[in-house]
Amino acid sequence: MGSRTLRVAAVLAIGAGLALLGVLARPAWLPGWFVWLVGLGSAAVALNELLGKPAFFLRWSVIRMGLGARHLMRTWQVGDGREQKVADFVVANARAGDVDHAIQLIDEFGYRQSFLMNVGDEKGEILDAALRRSGAKQVLEVGAYVGYSALRIARQLPSDGHVTSVEFSAANAALAGRIIDHAGMGDRITIVVGSLGDGGKTFAHLREKCGFAAGTLDFVFLDHDKDVYLSDLLLLLGAGWLHPGSVVVADNIRFPGAPEYRAYMKQQEGGRWETREHEAHVEYQSLIPDLVLESTLIGPALGTRSRA
Ligand SMILES: C[S@@+](CC[C@H](N)C(=O)[O-])C[C@H]1O[C@@H](n2cnc3c(N)ncnc32)[C@H](O)[C@@H]1O
Repeated sequence: MGSRTLRVAAVLAIGAGLALLGVLARPAWLPGWFVWLVGLGSAAVALNELLGKPAFFLRWSVIRMGLGARHLMRTWQVGDGREQKVADFVVANARAGDVDHAIQLIDEFGYRQSFLMNVGDEKGEILDAALRRSGAKQVLEVGAYVGYSALRIARQLPSDGHVTSVEFSAANAALAGRIIDHAGMGDRITIVVGSLGDGGKTFAHLREKCGFAAGTLDFVFLDHDKDVYLSDLLLLLGAGWLHPGSVVVADNIRFPGAPEYRAYMKQQEGGRWETREHEAHVEYQSLIPDLVLESTLIGPALGTRSRA
């Protein structure tokens, strides 16, 4: 058991003890049911942390993520330093140059230390299989976070394949770069700080510095702001960087959800796109269902909106 778990367990046990004291010597204005709720809740979270492979909703790192939702929406980091910690953990413990070990340790961190918003192992296997089926060489990822999915993608590609990952947060991009370099994949993955919807700046960078041109992209992985999945895909189509047969995989279609993107793919089914829906679960737990879409471009590659 790590020192973090001990700390959390100790704090929560103290919380539970205080709540029990509150029951015994409770002021009249404090409802008894509330004191019991806090006491039992704290005890359950503490016990859960101590058990080693914790139940999702009782994990302190999940509760902490919920409490930090506003910070997360603004910065794309939870606010408790877990992104820095996972990078330190991988660099300290993974064998240098061993991509499988780096991926395994990030998953272990996500299950046992702090929940991470990676695609995770279960949906990661769906991503791996889609990559194998597509035979892709040139991949664009949108949303790197700490580099987990970029590593998974890169290890599926042939030796002349390459992943370019567009990441909005410079801090996340730096942490991802550290992990990727340690895993020996620095020459297979390029991280570009920016966003596809920034008015053309990132498109210009991809075109001029990364060599993106007509029909370049065999595969796109969308795993960023769910509200811009569709608009970003339409921008990519507008640039003409996809080709018939290009595959787009999109995570989190059910949770947190990208209904506009899913509706577009349903409406285009058999015309411009052909889509397989993969049932799965939100990463690092098995209670909350999620959906991954794997869409193959079968119609015209050139779209209408352009930033290129
Ligand atoms: C769910 S995480 C990505 C997880 C990563 N794909 C993995 O599985 O390892 C989402 C990431 O997208 C980034 N992001 C959010 N909005 C973005 C945008 N419009 N363009 C690029 N990146 C964005 C966030 O900073 C965050 O790092």
